[in-house]
Amino acid sequence: MAVFHHHHPSADLRRLFHRLTIASSLSILCFSLVYLLTGCCESELTENSEIKTPTRDFFGSGWSYERNGTVAQEVTADVGEGALSRHHGLEANSSGKEWTATRRLPQALIIGVKKGGTRALLEFLRLHPDVRALGSEPHFFDRHYARGLDWYRSMMPKALDGQIVMEKTPRYFVTVETPARVHAMSQDVKLIVVVRDPVTRAISDYTQIISKTPDIPPFENLAFKNRSTGQIDSLWSPLWIGLYAQHLERWLAWFPRTQIHLVSGERLISDPAGELGKVQDFLGLQRIVTDKHFYFNKTKGFPCLKKPEGSSKPHCLGKTKGRMHASIDPEVMQRLRDFYKPHNQRFYQMAGQDFGWQ
Ligand code: A3P
Repeated sequence: MAVFHHHHPSADLRRLFHRLTIASSLSILCFSLVYLLTGCCESELTENSEIKTPTRDFFGSGWSYERNGTVAQEVTADVGEGALSRHHGLEANSSGKEWTATRRLPQALIIGVKKGGTRALLEFLRLHPDVRALGSEPHFFDRHYARGLDWYRSMMPKALDGQIVMEKTPRYFVTVETPARVHAMSQDVKLIVVVRDPVTRAISDYTQIISKTPDIPPFENLAFKNRSTGQIDSLWSPLWIGLYAQHLERWLAWFPRTQIHLVSGERLISDPAGELGKVQDFLGLQRIVTDKHFYFNKTKGFPCLKKPEGSSKPHCLGKTKGRMHASIDPEVMQRLRDFYKPHNQRFYQMAGQDFGWQ
């Protein structure tokens, strides 16, 4: 009997031990799940709230372009992705879709033009939950092509199925080798060009150059080959970039006109929601970015973003966007207008629309 009495407690103990093992395994499993979920949400929130971080990737991409220290062409303007993406993140959570987020090559590119309003367009588009855009300019097709498509892909933010991955590098529009290279990556890529009166664009370009290198000669000296004969130096970069017809022609040798969308830089300022509506249509996106997102900031003199849900402040682009232009001799301005006139006419014909530049 005594033997039996000894047997029972040990069997009980074994059962207890067994149960304990199962219970602790289950709790470890639960903890891991909770850890994973909170970990994921935390990184999403911190990344989104850091609105001044140059490259924002709410899926926690790890190394951003700038952190890699490779090339940081521009600091992202003072505009945040804000609540829309966060909201989308939650939707993605409930459907469990975020686990399928991957890095893909871009399906859309803002290829130009420099000083056209490309930063504004990209930041406005980033409000759309189905857009995942790189904050910095990767300059892949013009400067870093030798690094290969895998490198380029690794620069992109992670995206879910159905989201459009994009980047902007305004120099693509004017670099001769770029259209063929973009075509070799994808024949279906959607291309966006923000164009602006080439005379104002040139002055904006010069204003940017002189802010970085204050010792350069006056605009008037650089714009002419010979001031007294009035012969324009069309190879001077600020003027050459404005020969839109010439640049567009190179792209049209590789892509159909329907695959290139032209945004009016002027209307992007006077009616941002209207221009954004057309861009969203072109990208096959729902019109989610609307006039509700913008307000006109009188101090800045430009449209800015209303405070996004969850953020306390409205956002304007940074100081280098929308700055005072150098004042240029009106006669020189007129000479430039005359110079661009035939080029603009040809561009309007190719574009199928009149941009109304003087
Ligand atoms: P200026 O600084 O000459 O006014 P990009 O981003 O391609 O370099 O273009 C810069 C230009 O974007 C600015 O040139 C400005 O005119 C224009 N822009 C368009 N929308 C803007 C906005 N909402 N805020 C600031 N600048 C804007």
